[in-house]
Amino acid sequence: MATNRTFTMIKPDATQENHIGGILSMIEEGGFRIVSLKKVLLTPERAGKFYEVHKERPFYQDLVKYMSSGPIVAAILEKDNAVADFRTLIGATNPAQAAEGTIRKKYAKSIEANAVHGSDSDENAQIEGDFFFSADEKF
Ligand code: CMP
Repeated sequence: MATNRTFTMIKPDATQENHIGGILSMIEEGGFRIVSLKKVLLTPERAGKFYEVHKERPFYQDLVKYMSSGPIVAAILEKDNAVADFRTLIGATNPAQAAEGTIRKKYAKSIEANAVHGSDSDENAQIEGDFFFSADEKF
């Protein structure tokens, strides 16, 4: 299992407010290489599938609605110790608890509209990256 890759999404609140460039800059300045990148509009079905692990949580329906309310930017990122280092860079899920200098401290609006997603394990980084990108994509 690769330990040098993680997966991120820039969420609809941040794309809507023109923070794609600012967030990608913080990611690159944080030492991550952008391996794959795309901007897409998720259907409620696809958003629901992505967050299926949270299906029983009280916030699930709202989360699915929110994540399909506008475009997201999906990316695979590379760096040594990528999963843990990226979670440090983005800060706590709840922006009220996010440390100074983190992406969520700067850009998140609420615990739901929290600007970015970051994978929580190497295994999920692989699964989430595969959800958006396939190795043999050709254009
Ligand atoms: P993310 O890291 O993408 O993982 C699950 C998402 O659910 C989280 O960010 C938030 O966008 C959203 N969410 C909404 N409410 C909560 C909550 N109370 N606790 C955790 N996540 C929440």
